[in-house]
Amino acid sequence: MNKYAGKKAVVTGGTHGMGLAIVKALLKGGAEVVFTGRNEKKIEEARAELNSGAAHIVRSDAAVMADIDALGELVGNKLGRIDYLFVNHGIAEINLLEQVTEASWERHFNINTKGAFFTVQRLAPLINDGGAIVFTTVANDTIFPGLSAYSGSKEAVRAFAQVLAAEFLPRKIRVNSVAPGYIDTPTMGVPGLTDEERAEFMKQGDEITPLKRHGTVEEVAAAALFLAVDATFTTGTELPVDGGFAQGLAVS
Ligand SMILES: NC(=O)c1ccc[n+]([C@@H]2O[C@H](COP(=O)([O-])OP(=O)(O)OC[C@H]3O[C@@H](n4cnc5c(N)ncnc54)[C@H](OP(=O)(O)O)[C@@H]3O)[C@@H](O)[C@H]2O)c1
Repeated sequence: MNKYAGKKAVVTGGTHGMGLAIVKALLKGGAEVVFTGRNEKKIEEARAELNSGAAHIVRSDAAVMADIDALGELVGNKLGRIDYLFVNHGIAEINLLEQVTEASWERHFNINTKGAFFTVQRLAPLINDGGAIVFTTVANDTIFPGLSAYSGSKEAVRAFAQVLAAEFLPRKIRVNSVAPGYIDTPTMGVPGLTDEERAEFMKQGDEITPLKRHGTVEEVAAAALFLAVDATFTTGTELPVDGGFAQGLAVS
């Protein structure tokens, strides 16, 4: 099924985790994709795994304005115009208030917030009218200690995504977000977790998620593609993909 044949897409943070699942789904459907990451080893692994002429991997740091500019130029040269932009990259660090350093604060807001915003600003002229932008935010309505900088950085994305949805109305470009709960990715969204911490995080997610399990990257990718492609009358919204985690569902 070549559902995305002839379509062109950009995915930031596409070298592993949910972003890679979005890239794979797009390629499977026949799209051509430019996607980014920073870590050379991960870039090479993704390149080897995908082994496709329709997949263009770019080393690009979303926190660096020059990299965002270079990404825009490369996308223009490689793809010309694009149909879908997935702004998925992100990092989290777990620190209580007194542990949050200025450097950690800046990493969160430079990567997750500023990087997301200026990626859209730089790529917007390349998006076809009638296209779509999908941000990856977070199931932020359940509150955890230690994630203040992260939650703030992602809440800002949710806020400006809605304003951008209004700004893009004249071009019929829809802007939505997916808000994942606990999803099984290499980092669980928190690079630098030890294997034990990651296992504990996963166990915690399985216990407190109403559906009593974590989600898969394919489930998030399906929701992101639904918003980008199928949800043609939906804009300005955030779709939770969290097993009911942020919905206040009580398990009887
Ligand atoms: N996993 C979860 O449970 C969860 C829950 C809620 C929300 N989220 C959000 O969902 C998104 C994907 O999470 P994930 O778990 O799939 O993460 P992941 O496996 O760590 O993948 C993150 C991707 O973003 C890239 N990235 C990170 N910083 C970047 C930067 N400065 N510039 C460019 N690329 C960068 C990574 O590449 P490098 O490794 O090369 O930097 C990687 O390709 C993130 O925005 C995360 O905050 C995750």
